[in-house]
This record gives sequence, C-alpha cells and structure tokens, in this order.
Amino acid sequence: MTSRPRAVEPAAFRPPVQETEEDQILNMSLRPKRFEEFVGQASVVENLRVAVQAATRRQEALEHLLLAGPPGLGKTSLAHIVAQEMGAKITATSGPAIERAGDLIGVLTNLGPGDVLFIDEIHRLSKVVEEFLYPAMEDFKIDFIVDKGPYAKTIKFHLKRFTLIGATTRAGLLSNPLRSRFGMVYHLDFYQPQELEEVVRRSAAILGINVEAAACAEIARRSRGTPRVANRLLRRVRDYAQVKASARITAEVAESALAAQGVDGFGLDPIDRKVLRTIVEFYSGGPVGIEALAASLNEEPDTIVDVVEPFLLSAGLVKRTARGRKATRLAYEHLSKLKREPLPLASSASAAA
Ligand SMILES: Nc1ncnc2c1ncn2[C@@H]1O[C@H](COP(=O)(O)OP(=O)(O)OP(=O)(O)O)[C@@H](O)[C@H]1O
Ligand SMILES: [Mg+2]
Repeated sequence: MTSRPRAVEPAAFRPPVQETEEDQILNMSLRPKRFEEFVGQASVVENLRVAVQAATRRQEALEHLLLAGPPGLGKTSLAHIVAQEMGAKITATSGPAIERAGDLIGVLTNLGPGDVLFIDEIHRLSKVVEEFLYPAMEDFKIDFIVDKGPYAKTIKFHLKRFTLIGATTRAGLLSNPLRSRFGMVYHLDFYQPQELEEVVRRSAAILGINVEAAACAEIARRSRGTPRVANRLLRRVRDYAQVKASARITAEVAESALAAQGVDGFGLDPIDRKVLRTIVEFYSGGPVGIEALAASLNEEPDTIVDVVEPFLLSAGLVKRTARGRKATRLAYEHLSKLKREPLPLASSASAAA
C-alpha cells in the first residue's frame, strides 16, 4: 500500500459529457489531487478523511465506496484523491467498457492489497458482470466457469482485499444487491456560488489567468453549480478577453463573454433553455413524460435525465410529478425576461403531440 498511485485508463474510458480534447487535457491539470485542494462538499470530504485515516491506521483496505451525483461535480476527482491519500494504486475503467465478466478477471487478479478499482458509470454494468462482481466485493473471491456442458469447469480465484470505488450519475438505476455491497455511499450536491468562486480562483491561478474578484463571482454564479462548468466558462472568458485584448478580466468582460456563449443570468445554457421552453410552450407547462419531451427535442432521454434535469430541479425551475415534469412559476418568470429565441423542435414534434 505504499506504492505511488498510477492511473491505468482503458481506451474506452471517457466522461459521459462531451468535451473537446483541449478541455479534457485542461481538466486533468485542474483536477484537485489532495483533500485540501478539493473545494466544498465538506461533509463528504470529512467523512472520507476519517475513513481513510482509520483504514490506514488499521493497515486495512478502505471499504467499497459509491459516489453518486450529476456530471462534473467531482466524483472522478474524489476517487483519485482517495486512492492517493491511501497511497494505493488506482485502476480506472467504466461500466460500458466491461463487456464480459472475463474482461474483469485480469483487472481483479492484478489488484494488490488496498489497491483501488474505479468503475465510472457503474450503473451501466451488464447484469452478468454485476453478478460476477458480488463475490469479488464481498468475499474477495471469484468463480469463473470455462467451457460449456460436460466439459465445464469452475476456476476459483482468490483476490487481495481491494477497494472498489463506483461513480454514478444515476444512483437510482443501481440494483439493490450492488448498492448494499458498498460500505460507504455518498451523494455529491451542486456547489454553492461561494464554493465555485473558490474553484474559479484556484483554476485561474493554475492557468495564470488574471481575473478580478467580481468576474470570478460572475462566472461562479452562472456555472450551474458545477465545477466542470466553472472551469469551462473560465476558459471561454479567457479566450474572449484575449480576442478583445483586455489584459484583466473584469465583471463586464466576463458578462459579455458568457452572454456570447449563450449562458444566461441563471447559468442556463442553450440546451437547458430549450428543455424549459419546450415544457412551457409546447406542453403548456407540463406535466410531460420524459420520453415525449426527449422526442420533441430530438435528444436522448438519458441526456435530459442525467445532464439537464438535475440542475433545473435543484434551481426550482422544474418539478417532478407522478405524471411527468412540470415547469414552475420561476421558470415562467425567467423565460419571460429573456429575448425570444426560435424553438428548435425536432420534425417528429407534431407527431409526438
Ligand atoms: N471540489 C472540486 N474542487 C475543485 N475542482 C473541482 C472539484 N470538483 C470538480 N472539480 C473540477 O471539475 C472537473 C470535473 O470533475 P470530475 O471529472 O471529477 O467530475 P465527475 O463528477 O467525475 O463528472 P462525470 O460524471 O462527468 O464523470 C475536474 O477536472 C476538476 O477540475
Ligand atoms: Mg467522472
């Protein structure tokens, strides 16, 4: 458990939200490496610190850990921090990348005592792979059946006591048996504006960007409660300032840059507004089922549920009812203040209605 952390990321590993390659590289450099660098989520971080210290003192592996929450809130960052603080090696993969149970044997048998296996998007593991994981998590043993029929035989593998860290944007999709095998389950919530201000200040310092305090606050306020968005907006603001040849980033520069990016005063981006306006104008405020909404927008239902909806819900713009999603009064107020944009509905929209 004393070896330096080393990340092994299979080619199929990618974040669920689409980002440019430049964004991904910058995200790596901005990723907090220790608990002290991780802004916000105070109670989760405190609990993890205690768990890590206790496990280290007992010289045991950390219990399996599940991190849940919307995209970009720091699940992957926390998984790497926990491994780093445990002094453990981390192997990273993701649910969709593990097609067959056999894919996991090599990974699992190569884990040393206390090593971390990080499975991103763990809710997307297939049933078969999931069931294969149960004994590995619980008893650190796996049975693998080779061949079929009369030649079938079971090979037993004994594993070292490793720690599984799972990350998911959809805790609700995890089966109960899988969820119950995690000793620790933590939910990450959207960040407060002051916390995001700190994220922006930290990132600006790392990237050598000169941002005034008021501009930091403006970027933070419009970042959908999400550090990844804050970092992205900071870079877009920097680009804008560069082109407009302003050496310092003031609140006015930040505001114009964010407006040019289509980010409104609430922090909603064009896709958020599209969803909101479709509920309000096309479905008379709802309730509307997620499938119908997705069809009208020509989007995947998963994208709406994972990426768009959590923030709209937390901002109080949309609420969930038994019969579907409804726009709130706040949503009407917000939309009425905005300039009218054409509603880009999919051609199937009239059919869906
Ligand atoms: N608490 C934090 N403090 C500072 N920066 C953070 C924090 N959380 C996230 N970030 C920044 O946001 C970026 C995205 O975080 P991360 O990749 O850990 O999110 P995630 O929850 O794994 O997202 P996804 O669900 O899309 O995989 C990181 O590169 C990091 O720069
Ligand atoms: Mg991640």
